[in-house]
Amino acid sequence: MSDMTFDGMTVLMTGASGGFGKSATRMFAERGARLVLSDVNETALKAHAEALQADGFEVVTITGSVADEAHCQATVDLAMETFGRLDVAINNAGMSHNPGKVHEVDSARAQDTIQINLMGVFYGMKHQIPAMLAGHQADQQTRSILNLASLAGIGGAPTMSMYAAAKHGVVGLTKSAALEYARKGLRINCLCPSFARTPIVTEGLLDGSDEDAEKEKFLTRGIPMRRLAEPEEITQSMLWICDPKNSFMTGQAVALDGGTSAMGR
Ligand SMILES: NC(=O)c1ccc[n+]([C@@H]2O[C@H](COP(=O)([O-])OP(=O)(O)OC[C@H]3O[C@@H](n4cnc5c(N)ncnc54)[C@H](O)[C@@H]3O)[C@@H](O)[C@H]2O)c1
Repeated sequence: MSDMTFDGMTVLMTGASGGFGKSATRMFAERGARLVLSDVNETALKAHAEALQADGFEVVTITGSVADEAHCQATVDLAMETFGRLDVAINNAGMSHNPGKVHEVDSARAQDTIQINLMGVFYGMKHQIPAMLAGHQADQQTRSILNLASLAGIGGAPTMSMYAAAKHGVVGLTKSAALEYARKGLRINCLCPSFARTPIVTEGLLDGSDEDAEKEKFLTRGIPMRRLAEPEEITQSMLWICDPKNSFMTGQAVALDGGTSAMGR
């Protein structure tokens, strides 16, 4: 971690004001990156950007949903117009549906889950890739895309079936795209965390009540380390995966799961 530098590089992050997004973008900025931040939550996005700017970091923001292709295109346009280059793109925005067995999942929410978690990554990559290919042709430096999948992208996830379906899609999309651009100066990987202590878990699956300790025990019962990940345990890997020195790694679905996938799920 200590010798990683993103000096002069532009890093684009979707879902930038959530748990992973906030933590990772600050780490990138502290290592020299200029930031293009997007999120659907305007208030949280502005607050995060202002905190970064107050510390002297270069940040631009754009509000919108990754489910909207025009927003994804506008985010890339903002990076190019503001900083003239796009070096790292992290398609991180995501949400889940109401927990429940397949017949209990609300259909509209299931559709949103696919549209945001899978189509949002596709729209992002579709517009990030041409800018990155052109940049590589101009300066021969390798660019990197990182998509946020999940452990639910490499194994079944009871009561989260459509989330798992979307995240399996992200893994397939990542691997396919990595093969398409392997000789074009573009590395494309995805990250597959198990439960981490961010709002998607603390507000979506826990609720701040006295029962949270029991619920957390239940959530982590299948994880060999028997605990949630802390956000920084995930986000430091986001930097490592995108580090230009990590130059031979592409097409990987990297599990950060306290050992869960080692059990042969
Ligand atoms: N925290 C975990 O346990 C965990 C585990 C595996 C994978 N992930 C994945 O990591 C990514 C980041 O999750 P997190 O833990 O930081 O969650 P989070 O809920 O803290 O943050 C998600 C962010 O995405 C934004 N967002 C939601 N819908 C959006 C949309 N349509 N368009 C743009 N932005 C939108 C939210 O406003 C929020 O800022 C997600 O893709 C999630 O599925 C999280």
